[in-house]
Amino acid sequence: LGHPRLHHRSIGSTNARAQELAVTGAPHGTVVTAREQTAGRGRQGRAWTTPPGTALAVSVVLRDPPPLLTLAAALAVADVAVALDRERREPAIKWPNDVLLDGRKVAGILAEGRLQEGWAVLGIGLNVAVDPAALPPEVRERATTLSRDPAELERALELLLEALGRWLDVGDEDLLAAYRARDALLGRPIDWSGGHGTAAGIADDGRLRIRTGTGDEVLLDAGEVHLGAL
Ligand code: BTN
Repeated sequence: LGHPRLHHRSIGSTNARAQELAVTGAPHGTVVTAREQTAGRGRQGRAWTTPPGTALAVSVVLRDPPPLLTLAAALAVADVAVALDRERREPAIKWPNDVLLDGRKVAGILAEGRLQEGWAVLGIGLNVAVDPAALPPEVRERATTLSRDPAELERALELLLEALGRWLDVGDEDLLAAYRARDALLGRPIDWSGGHGTAAGIADDGRLRIRTGTGDEVLLDAGEVHLGAL
C-alpha cells in the first residue's frame, strides 16, 4: 500500500479525492493524504475535523476489498495506538470501527465505494498529536490523541499502512479473534431502531450480535444502530 502516494497540503476530503482517482483507474494501494481537510467526511453524513499538522487524514484505494475491511482497518489503527500512545492505553474497538483509548475516540474510519465494481476507498482519520481545543466543542470531550508531538505524524502513517497491509492479508478467523479481543461493547446495553438488548459479540460475518430481553438473538449491520458514547 502507498504506491503511488499523493499528498495534499489542503483538500476537501481525501476520501472524495481517492474516489475520483478510483473511478479513473488508480491502482490498488493508491494512497491520498492531506495535511488539512476542509470538508472531511464522517460516518452517517457527519463532518470530520482534521486539525492541520497534528492528525492523519488517509484514504486508500482498494481493488477487491474483503468483506471485513473496516474491521481490519480498526485493528490496524489499534496497532498504531499500541506503538505510539504516550500513555500506553490499551485500545478497544467500539463496533464497527471506532477505536477508543480510555473510552475516547482516537480515530474514525469510513469505507466508501462501489463494491459491484470491485473497489472501495478506505478513509482513516487518526488523532496523532491533536490539541483538543482544535476540535469542535461537540466532540472535544469524547476525543483523544496519541501524543502531543506532531513529529510523530510521519511515523504514524508508515505504521498505519504497514499494519493495514498485514490485517488485509490475514485470514478471517485470525482477524475476528483479534477483533473480538478488543470488543468494547461486549456485555453492554445496546439500543437500536428495532429495540434494545445486550451486545453479545461479533458474528463471523462482522455483524454485531445482540441478545434481547426475551433471549432471542438479533444481528445488526453497521449503520442500523446508533450507539451512545461509552
Ligand atoms: C467517523 O465518522 O468516525 C469516520 C471518520 C473518517 C474520517 C476520515 S479522514 C480521511 C478520510 N477522508 C474523509 O473525508 N473522511 C475519512
